[in-house]
Amino acid sequence: MKRLYIKTYGCQMNVYDSARMADVLAPHGYAPVDAPDDADMIILNTCHIREKAAEKVYSEIGRLRPFKRRKEANGDRMIIAVGGCVGQAEGEEIIARADCVDMVFGPQTFHRLPELVARATRASGEKVVDIEFPAEDKFDHLPEEASSQGVSAFLTIQEGCDKFCTFCVVPYTRGAEQSRPVAAVIAEARRLAASGSRELTLLGQNVNAYHGRGPDGTEWTLGQLLFELAESVPEIERLRYTTSHPRDVDDSLLAAHRELPQLMPYLHLPVQSGSDRVLAAMNRKHSADDYRRIVDRLRAARPDLALSSDFIVGYPGETDQEFAETLRLVTDIGYAQAYSFKYSTRPGTPAATEHQVPAAVKDDRLSSLQQLLRAQQTAFNQSKRGAEMPVLFERRGRYDGQILGRSPFMQPVHAEAPERLIGTIATCRIVDVLNNSLKGEVLTVEAESAVDQPVAERVRA
Ligand code: 5AD
Ligand code: SF4
Repeated sequence: MKRLYIKTYGCQMNVYDSARMADVLAPHGYAPVDAPDDADMIILNTCHIREKAAEKVYSEIGRLRPFKRRKEANGDRMIIAVGGCVGQAEGEEIIARADCVDMVFGPQTFHRLPELVARATRASGEKVVDIEFPAEDKFDHLPEEASSQGVSAFLTIQEGCDKFCTFCVVPYTRGAEQSRPVAAVIAEARRLAASGSRELTLLGQNVNAYHGRGPDGTEWTLGQLLFELAESVPEIERLRYTTSHPRDVDDSLLAAHRELPQLMPYLHLPVQSGSDRVLAAMNRKHSADDYRRIVDRLRAARPDLALSSDFIVGYPGETDQEFAETLRLVTDIGYAQAYSFKYSTRPGTPAATEHQVPAAVKDDRLSSLQQLLRAQQTAFNQSKRGAEMPVLFERRGRYDGQILGRSPFMQPVHAEAPERLIGTIATCRIVDVLNNSLKGEVLTVEAESAVDQPVAERVRA
């Protein structure tokens, strides 16, 4: 067996892609390991969304170099590969800047890994770069998932983006928008369910722009797909999707939120800014009020819906007034959780050449926004104190006798309860609210057929 170490940066789609890279390489004798020191192949599955992400990759390569040299001194080889979005964006440049890198590939070519590896491992020590956007569909060439993702799994249904927000590299690194056919998604969902998954998070850069081919030959929406998954894969008790765009919230998606108990009441719906001038400059094609109305409609469909968002502060030309409009929008909506970033210039994107906001101003704005968002998150978590809610337990906790799961709103919940509850949904009372998690007490167990009495009694028995 050859040792394969994959390090993943960035978004959940990269986490999914890394698992699929391991699936592609498994039949070729590569087994995953947890440490890079003695690996035969290292893949850095990279992220290009913000500046620092790429810099982190170069410093990681620097840390790996001595491992590679040590292996070479012992007469062995270590292949270092850079995959993902930095690979796509920088290509040959990576090999020019870091000569210990043997292979560079992008998000759309990792199904070709066996061939790329064969070339890179030749005695000649050929450097291999494959950053094509191939005509063939990657998913048609990937093997079935080799290993379980566990209780909560990711499933990519859509990839790429045609929206071209002026700050964003995704349309360039992930390519044009593409949706997988409904039948392929259902088949993968069934396999994940059979391997023990109970929750699926459907992934896409623009997941609610999904328009995959349905069994009837028409293009299906994300809403239709969610209804189909809920009906035809009943073992999947929880459904989520990310990342969505406000412009693609349609009636079928609202209906799914209204009618499907499996669809969790938590939605990541990035708005980026609360200023109409900035939103227009960003090419978001929606106003702050459009966003408010969309949230109103979602909450009308699912009153307990909790929201999350992404924000960018210090977009080129953003004034104090415009930033204040972002704070106002945050106050109006009330978020359960959110991510916020200082604008960072991405070469090749339209915003990169605009008038930049000074770094100190961005710092100030980020800290006031984060203060507000943190206060909202704390208030949201505190509002759950004493509440009863279903928790899907995913794994053992840090301490003996403790298990860890998630609330419908993505909050981590830990409880002292038997391990056999892992993989099941149990009703918990929230007895304490800590900084990053909730403490629950298991009350009853749903989805376990034989036993109806409260788990507390069964635990004692
Ligand atoms: N600068 C800062 N943040 C960015 N994002 C995307 N591009 C940039 C950039 N150039 C943020 C957006 C997006 C999230 C994934 O990353 O908020 O929603
Ligand atoms: Fe990037 Fe999202 Fe805008 Fe697409 S919709 S360009 S992925 S920020």
